[in-house]
Amino acid sequence: MKNALIFGLTGQDGTYLADFLLKKGYNVFGTFRRTSHRCFERLEEIGIFDDITKIKADISDQTSINSAIRQAKPDEIYNLAAQSFVGVSFQQPILTSDVTGLGTLRILDSIRDNAPDAKFYQASSSEMFGDFPGKKDEKTCFRPRSPYGVAKVFAHHMTNHYKEAYKIFACCGILFNHESPLRGLEFVTRKITYELARVKYKKQKKFSLGNIYAKRDWGFAGDYVEAMWLMLQQKNPDDYVIATGESHSVEEFLTLATEFMGMGDWKNIIEIDKTLLRPTDIENLVGNSSKARKELGWKPKTSFKNLVKEMVEHDLEYVKLRTDPLSE
Ligand code: NAP
Ligand code: GDD
Repeated sequence: MKNALIFGLTGQDGTYLADFLLKKGYNVFGTFRRTSHRCFERLEEIGIFDDITKIKADISDQTSINSAIRQAKPDEIYNLAAQSFVGVSFQQPILTSDVTGLGTLRILDSIRDNAPDAKFYQASSSEMFGDFPGKKDEKTCFRPRSPYGVAKVFAHHMTNHYKEAYKIFACCGILFNHESPLRGLEFVTRKITYELARVKYKKQKKFSLGNIYAKRDWGFAGDYVEAMWLMLQQKNPDDYVIATGESHSVEEFLTLATEFMGMGDWKNIIEIDKTLLRPTDIENLVGNSSKARKELGWKPKTSFKNLVKEMVEHDLEYVKLRTDPLSE
């Protein structure tokens, strides 16, 4: 039985990946941070909490990373941990660089000392491309437009440096946006389905959005974690773009979600709040994942329409059972 260690277990992707690896027969270890509240809601929601060995570690702390790697004795390590919210990276650029950028270097350095034969997956991001025009693939230049994007570019290059210099089996998955019913409430897709459900149940009347004309290449997180695993099963380590190849605007997502909710015109519900606009944003992100489709045999299984529908159905149930307001 193989051991896998996931940094960032408690996040959206960590949860789907843990579930995927358990089904493949892995012994799954995952890290969580010390917080003042419980952080295992996602693992509990999909019923895998008891099946994972949980290790307390923070990727801004080298000692805890070393202990986690020594304890798990991993065959495969997945680094999904990050300050992953682009909007907050403008307000907390130093923390974002420390966690999202240097955090990856700390893990790589620990692998070098403690688990040089482990295979390593780094969660790179389409945010690294910035506003470079057209469909993006593995050869496209990086022109990041946020502190988060800059930190991810650092982590990406550092991962490739460790692969070259120390022969670590390291892969970067350059993933475009992927969403799900387990998506964090501050990301625009989940914010829309969650808040629309609250409006539907009369828990609030309106909510605010920022740039509704931005377009993203939105896939389903459950499909994307399979690609992470596939990368580590190849003969040689390499980097791959993972994307659906279509982009849709925030406005389109909102319109479709409102339809699935059985609600009227969203124009009576949404206010545009200029404070939600970012100092720099990316207007359109769309990827070309031909290399992954050819070499990994991967392709997305969930359409944009079904993704929106699943998120809407989930939040209609979820909101019914909850009373807490969203605070951003
Ligand atoms: P997420 O839901 O925000 O999860 C991030 C995870 O990182 C959480 O488990 C979080 O723990 C953990 N974390 C944050 N700071 C940490 C620290 N200092 N030490 C240890 N762990 C820490 O993000 P996601 O959507 O699952 O994304 C997974 C990874 O893929 C991230 O690296 C993200 O940047 C990258 N990515 C995501 C997308 C996407 O569209 N989802 C696309 C491209 C790349 P808490 O639960 O305690 O906060
Ligand atoms: N979050 C948020 N909230 N975004 C809004 C809002 C709002 O109220 N209104 C409009 N938007 C716009 C943002 O300005 C952005 O252009 C777009 O919606 C998507 O925002 P997010 O859902 O926050 O995602 P992101 O694209 O910035 O970042 C996500 O995808 C990256 C991959 O490209 C995150 O998951 C990153 O971690 C990931 O790397």
